[in-house]
Amino acid sequence: MKQTISSDEAQDCFSGFPVVLGSVGGSKDNVITLAMCHVFSFKPALLGVGIAPKRFSHALFKESKDFAINIPDKKMLRAVEICGSKSGRKVDKFEAAGLTREKAEKIGSPLVAECPVNIECVKVKEIEAGDHTWFIGEVVAARRDASYRTADMLLYWGEYRVIGGLVK
Ligand SMILES: Cc1cc2nc3c(=O)[nH]c(=O)nc-3n(C[C@H](O)[C@H](O)[C@H](O)COP(=O)(O)O)c2cc1C
Repeated sequence: MKQTISSDEAQDCFSGFPVVLGSVGGSKDNVITLAMCHVFSFKPALLGVGIAPKRFSHALFKESKDFAINIPDKKMLRAVEICGSKSGRKVDKFEAAGLTREKAEKIGSPLVAECPVNIECVKVKEIEAGDHTWFIGEVVAARRDASYRTADMLLYWGEYRVIGGLVK
């Protein structure tokens, strides 16, 4: 038997979304923890991240022509929490979280060296959707550590998880 639920409860029905570290250059380099990250197109390869206008990063993503999506693994939880609670308005989050800026191959925004996956994106579209702006970028370069396993990536929706068992 199903019960009617509120829109908040409907959103709570999800178990988790992939956690990424968005990095951006511009007037100031910054790194922000994001769980709103999705594939928007296969060909061309488009990825998007959703950022609330009140975040310091929002203005940086607006002004920058590009950004990077860095995938941390579960060992990086402390850095994920720092980049998801402190603001680049007040601190250098690379320094605060013990992360290393790395020069990207094709974009001006810096990469996060400690992340096993770095995806360089050139911004192609911005979509205002309620209380978030989706910044959509085309993948222009990417690299992955040979030991990276998707099972080690973090998921978040109120609590942190890793992916569960394979169904098929
Ligand atoms: C696990 C996790 C996921 C988050 N996902 C998002 C997100 O998708 N979009 C967003 O705007 N903020 C998200 N946040 C909040 C920002 O990371 C947080 O407010 C951060 O301190 C903003 O940094 P800034 O002021 O330097 O931009 C998330 C935080 C955590 C801990």
